[in-house]
Amino acid sequence: MNLTVIGTGYVGLVSGTCFAEMGNKVTCIDIDKAKIEKLNGGIIPIYEPGLEPMVKRNIENKTLFFSTDLSSNLQGCDVAFIAVGTPMGEDGSADLQYVLQVAKEIGQNMEHSIIVVDKSTVPVGTADKVKETIQKELDKRNKDIEFHVVSNPEFLKEGDAINDFMKPDRVVVGSDNEEASKKMRSLYSPFFRSSTDRLITMDVRSAEMTKYVANAMLATKISFMNEIANICELVGADVNKVRIGIGSDSRIGYSFIYPGSGYGGSCFPKDVKALKKTAEQNGYSPKLIGAVEDVNNKQKLVIAEKIIERFGEDLSGKTFAIWGLSFKPGTDDMREAPAIYIIKELTKRGAKIQAYDPKAIEEAKEFYLKDVEGITYVNSKYEALHGCDAMVLLTEWKEFRAPDFGELKKQLKEPLIFDGRNQYNDEMLLSQGFEYHQIGKKR
Ligand code: UGA
Repeated sequence: MNLTVIGTGYVGLVSGTCFAEMGNKVTCIDIDKAKIEKLNGGIIPIYEPGLEPMVKRNIENKTLFFSTDLSSNLQGCDVAFIAVGTPMGEDGSADLQYVLQVAKEIGQNMEHSIIVVDKSTVPVGTADKVKETIQKELDKRNKDIEFHVVSNPEFLKEGDAINDFMKPDRVVVGSDNEEASKKMRSLYSPFFRSSTDRLITMDVRSAEMTKYVANAMLATKISFMNEIANICELVGADVNKVRIGIGSDSRIGYSFIYPGSGYGGSCFPKDVKALKKTAEQNGYSPKLIGAVEDVNNKQKLVIAEKIIERFGEDLSGKTFAIWGLSFKPGTDDMREAPAIYIIKELTKRGAKIQAYDPKAIEEAKEFYLKDVEGITYVNSKYEALHGCDAMVLLTEWKEFRAPDFGELKKQLKEPLIFDGRNQYNDEMLLSQGFEYHQIGKKR
């Protein structure tokens, strides 16, 4: 098929590239000229494992194109995906200005029947707004063209996005038109073996809701476990054992019940807020969804609180080695990363930071910790430790899982670890003479 993907952010770029990999002819559109030039040269603006070679391969195979020109690329296109950003508005709701601007341009340039797909995470009712916007533009031009707006939310995880897209748990298609559903099914059929067809069709509003509910459910699991972790500390239980104890119940399951320094990223924080807002706008005051958010905001600072409890309110003269800045491993993304909040809290109290992350240092320097004084960025995890009062682990990158603890002892002033992701065996560390603080188990 001939596909146009509008927006070359995370979702747009990964989706477009994976569709191209399956043999479709895909043009990815963005208004950012510099970005498009780079992409045409095979330079990828984000770090995502496996994406760069796939982009390059498909550029060479002439299945993937990048352009700033939406109008000419709409001609001959079968399906147009809207994958532009839906940032959080001031009141917590999703800001739809970019989505509706694209809808307007589609309406201004459409010359034949196209399926328009909402791929961005958009609140319930957005497909109707997109439809109205396009129709209005067609009416202005006196064009009588049949088109359908489909909701096809994306469930990919950063760091594992290619795998998620190529081998999806499910694909959700919300459509009120049989023909459009059929076309979407044939577009996605190469991603499934027929025996494991996981394409779920439903009405548009249910599909839009599904996206938010999936993310809010996962965020709820995390906040619930973080709250339990805090209670475990008080009653002398070990949350790591409790987690295994409950996860073995197949109704609960092991995934997304890892306690830690709270969830971050571009999705959970934004989507939980937006779902709450949607409920409120429709006259319902959600209790649980708001609590998920509150617990998470508090949880981001738990490790800083443990450090303060250990060293006192005034941290001047102390230096901490931070291992990990990104909101999770496998990405350079620092949006809503706990590291931002923890580092700000520590430096505000006079502490110095020596930070290492395999991928996110540039992001930290350029954006998220740009104005924070007292941070030195280093090139290796061991270099970060040198002369520090403690090591603070904030992102569970693989290279942090089994470090040389002898080297930690050698480099740190005293053998002291604060672990915001519960990565180590406390008995082993204690036997080696470490003081080890983790989440959900009091020392
Ligand atoms: C999330 C969803 O997992 C995807 O399915 C969805 O498509 C995506 O949002 C989106 O809406 O675009 P992502 O934000 O990339 O994906 O990251 P996750 O792997 O889900 O992790 C989110 C956060 O939860 C991270 O900060 C992670 O550290 C935290 N987490 C995860 C925990 O604290 N505990 C857990 O047990 C699992």
